[in-house]
Amino acid sequence: MITLGIETSCDETSVAVVENGRKILSNIIDTQIPIHEKYGGVVPEIASRNHIEAISRVAKKALEEAKITYDQIDAITPTYGPGLVGALLVGLSYAKALSYAINKPLVGVNHIQGHIAANYITYQELTPPFICMMMSGGNTQIIHVKDYTTFELLGKTRDDAIGEAFDKVARVIGLGYPGGPKVDNLAKQGTPTINLPKTHFENLDFSFSGIKTAVINLHHKNPEINKPDLCASFQKTVTETLIENIQKAIKQTQIKTIVLAGGVSANSYIRKAFKELEKQNIKIYMPDLKLCTDNAAMIASAGYYNYKSGKTNELNLNAIPNLKI
Ligand code: KG4
Repeated sequence: MITLGIETSCDETSVAVVENGRKILSNIIDTQIPIHEKYGGVVPEIASRNHIEAISRVAKKALEEAKITYDQIDAITPTYGPGLVGALLVGLSYAKALSYAINKPLVGVNHIQGHIAANYITYQELTPPFICMMMSGGNTQIIHVKDYTTFELLGKTRDDAIGEAFDKVARVIGLGYPGGPKVDNLAKQGTPTINLPKTHFENLDFSFSGIKTAVINLHHKNPEINKPDLCASFQKTVTETLIENIQKAIKQTQIKTIVLAGGVSANSYIRKAFKELEKQNIKIYMPDLKLCTDNAAMIASAGYYNYKSGKTNELNLNAIPNLKI
């Protein structure tokens, strides 16, 4: 079965062709990062306009690279939320028009579900149930993935998403956008010697605004502060919070399979720290680096499982910017 994934929730225009939810035939990603870099973050209106300019070209390239024609597609699977509404509408409208034109089913995909599915492409043997540590620019959640299309939210951030915290810290100390990879790189030259605050809750929720503000204040008070040490300390402290909550989730659910997902799961320190948990008889999965950040292959994979479980949508499907898992 062939699914055509379409992803335009933020600043990547991506179209992919995936076979049986697991094998990538093509995964074209047209990134707008250089366009938004000069503003220090994604400008929603500019993102939508660039998606409009790119979407037909990217879709055509995805079909060409996969060497398939429209009639070989079984379902068209766009992201319909969460994300920037104007950006989402571009991919979703394109998908709806294509679905109508070639008479193939439309299957909406939750972007977060897509990030989880990146792991099904990376690990052919991976099957639910497992616990997902979802870490992206817009979301930080601990999700009990009960099966391919059934999820239970166990914990979430009460304020900033972890990626947002990385990006804001990077911006304030002058590293530019997107900040995550830049903090990751600079931290490699530093040592985590600076004490930063951690926020704990009784349940599995997170809060990253306190540590973000602490880093910003330290830098404002002392612009000469050692930036590599600051990045290393920030990274170490947020990772400790992630691991503490994951340990609680394991205790609560008795599930010892942990799957990382989302752009921040590309972070080298976080990957290493989670890998260490394998010493405690916990199985850790993390997406291939190029599937961590936004791409349509993960959306096509999630779309395959939605379609297989009988979920299709009418052409009146709307974009939902705050769609929940
Ligand atoms: O998943 P994603 O591409 O977009 C959303 O769906 O939100 O995640 C983007 C986020 C950005 O905040 C970016 O800074 C962060 O992922 N990121 C990283 C790394 N690579 C990307 N954060 C920390 N370390 C990295 N290596």
